[in-house]
Amino acid sequence: MTRTEPARFRTRITELFGIEHPILLGGLHHLGESGIVSAVVNAGGMGFVTSRSFATPQAFRTDLQRCRDLTAGKPFGVNLTISRRPGFNRDLSAWIEVALDEGVRLFESAGSAPDEIVEPIHRGGGVLLHKCPSVRHAVTAQRLGVDAIGLVGMEEGGHPGANQLPSFVNAAYALSRVTVPLVVGGGIGHGRQIAAALAMGADAVVMGSRFMVASEIIAHEALKRRIVELDEHGSMAILGTIGDTWRVMVNETAREVQRLEAAGARSHREFGDLILSTRTIERVYEAGQVEEGIVSLGPAAGFADAIVPAADIMAQLMREAAAAARGFRQMCEFED
Ligand SMILES: Cc1cc2nc3c(=O)[nH]c(=O)nc-3n(C[C@H](O)[C@H](O)[C@H](O)COP(=O)(O)O)c2cc1C
Repeated sequence: MTRTEPARFRTRITELFGIEHPILLGGLHHLGESGIVSAVVNAGGMGFVTSRSFATPQAFRTDLQRCRDLTAGKPFGVNLTISRRPGFNRDLSAWIEVALDEGVRLFESAGSAPDEIVEPIHRGGGVLLHKCPSVRHAVTAQRLGVDAIGLVGMEEGGHPGANQLPSFVNAAYALSRVTVPLVVGGGIGHGRQIAAALAMGADAVVMGSRFMVASEIIAHEALKRRIVELDEHGSMAILGTIGDTWRVMVNETAREVQRLEAAGARSHREFGDLILSTRTIERVYEAGQVEEGIVSLGPAAGFADAIVPAADIMAQLMREAAAAARGFRQMCEFED
């Protein structure tokens, strides 16, 4: 192999998911639809159509059919949120049934423990990766029979839970406690971090923030331009005071939420519509008013330097990972 050829990393996840590169695009509320998912899948990674973004099972089914057309037979996945809120999970079995019926076999779940979904997914011939923010939850999910774990750290864009540990600390502990394939996420935006995760023993990475500038992401260009300008300090954690830590883009709305927390607000209700996803969708994603709503985002977004197709981001990540892996190989001296 010459130095200019891209590397191939073969892991238990590339085998299990039937993908070329060990890069997963995790679920993205409202944005994780067939456009971006098929772009990542066609570039050799894995993506998950995010079920909770759809108002009805029929709308979800239509998007899965579109994704199947766009990926021309390559496997793609579905993301499921398991909520703690009473009544919210009633629809979960309907989403799973629709996905299986449309030929989807790969699932990413996040939120509460996946005890109710392992059996129906396996009965339908599916594979379940459960994404969680702590090693304790990972061990529980493994005991419940999931096929792979996604372990995220506090740097994750979105909801990293009450966990206060970074992704590489979590992963290093998990690797001695979890035997199923392990995917690491949170703060990963450069290929050298992918190489480091694999060198540590992980089977893949799960990413989100770095892909927010992909041309296929259905958000306003003004948001993508803002993200391109950000450096590693472009995100902040809010709502930790009410036990619902959320890592988001720094903007006026996030600062206002922080001010309300400092002034003593202690329930979701007291933040009014500031924290509602409908506000983010209408004002930020659709109208491009980037100060006007909360956007899930982590420091990995600082690596985003241009609005380009997801395939270009994937290719850049793989070039960077290959360069780091070559450097690592050169510094190793083995006695055997
Ligand atoms: C805008 C946005 C929306 C997200 N929505 C979801 C979601 O609905 N379900 C989910 O499981 N994860 C969601 N995540 C988390 C990602 O799937 C992924 O785990 C995370 O982005 C990885 O950390 P990173 O942002 O540091 O790369 C979201 C992340 C972002 C940036």
